[in-house]
Amino acid sequence: MYDYGLFKFESKQQLLDTAIRYWNPDKTKFWQKAGIDLVIDRREGYRLYDMSGRSLIDLHLNGGTYNFGHRHPELVETLKGALDYFDIGNHWFPSVARAALAESLVKVSSGMTYAVFAPGGAEAVDIAIKSARYATKRRKIVSIVKGYHGHSGLSVATGDERFSKIFLSDQPEHFVQVPFNDIDAMEKALKGNDCAALIMETIPATYGFPMPKPGYLNACKALCVKHDAMYIADEVQTGLMRTGSMWGWQAYGVEPDIMVTAKGLSGGLYPISACLVNDKTGGWLNEDGAAHISTSGGAELGCVVAHKVIEMLQRPELIANVGFVSEFMAEGMAEMRRRHGDIFTGVRQKGVILGLEFSNHPEGALHVSRALYEHGIWAIFSSLDKRVLQWKPGVLLSSDLCQEILDRFDAAMPRARQLLRDAAKVN
Ligand SMILES: Cc1ncc(COP(=O)(O)O)c(C=O)c1O
Repeated sequence: MYDYGLFKFESKQQLLDTAIRYWNPDKTKFWQKAGIDLVIDRREGYRLYDMSGRSLIDLHLNGGTYNFGHRHPELVETLKGALDYFDIGNHWFPSVARAALAESLVKVSSGMTYAVFAPGGAEAVDIAIKSARYATKRRKIVSIVKGYHGHSGLSVATGDERFSKIFLSDQPEHFVQVPFNDIDAMEKALKGNDCAALIMETIPATYGFPMPKPGYLNACKALCVKHDAMYIADEVQTGLMRTGSMWGWQAYGVEPDIMVTAKGLSGGLYPISACLVNDKTGGWLNEDGAAHISTSGGAELGCVVAHKVIEMLQRPELIANVGFVSEFMAEGMAEMRRRHGDIFTGVRQKGVILGLEFSNHPEGALHVSRALYEHGIWAIFSSLDKRVLQWKPGVLLSSDLCQEILDRFDAAMPRARQLLRDAAKVN
């Protein structure tokens, strides 16, 4: 019996049946078929526990949401304290929690003027697009083929048609896409001087973290300046110290007109995201501040937790640890490549953001993900390039845990090799 107080399940199977019956049949069955029967139960630090009690080290972090690990004690304490005083607040009025968070975000984001809050990444991307359209009086938005910015009304139209067409939400007349790292294609898209914005993930996560070529992001920004389009940096997965800088655009020396942060901003405890705008793109906040409204966007409980997150990310010991984990993974993965180069074909890395290539099979990383799962590691393949495993170590990982991760990776490779061989036979 699994007794959670308000609800109970006889068995893991009963939970799976209930999820299929009432929650999401396709998603539930997808994981069963992939051999990853995970139902996350207890969670603590960088460890997750399946309902069966089996422990896994989390290297997915839900896209960086659990940058600090699960239920970080300082953040839990912060939220508990906030619950004694705040609730989500009333969006109509200035609030101490919102103003304080806006100030701390703007102060770590050179060039930005205001912070507008939302409950999640996609909604913050919608605000970014609306702000660019306000500033330019143009509608067209350029994004990257296989880029990912979420699933709300505007954000979904920037992404892969798998997610927009099913809901008739593709808008080809207003949203155009160009291949990543192709500056000629970018120039072609922008040169008509009719684009409101270019939206870029600083490193496209769902596409498997292909690294921007040297100078590419700067060249994109220069084209935006030349053609009066706004540059939107989507920092949902690359922000919050994951590249070694607070924001990925700082690591590449590109200053956006608008930026978006979400996921880890809440420490995974209370949903909150933010769109930061500069003087020009934030002009609407002086003209009609109620032009964009969200009851739960900028929930004060979330603001308090996020305020703590931004403070923690500036601690020297945390910054030093990001350097340690980055180096450990760089060296460790180089060694793993030497040992398993027949299947492990390449590494992409910036800070604690890594994409591990298993390119000999079109769904190589799907099989490796399963092998790792069987060896106590949860790391997800890239949805839009299943040859690449997303490898997202947390910023607070200890050296012992880093070593355990590497040992488990090494031990999982024979099983990965076997699964890849079987998959090749089926193909
Ligand atoms: C780069 C990027 N942008 C935006 C989003 C959307 O965020 P959310 O799922 O909170 O709406 C995601 C989510 O995975 C993301 O990875």
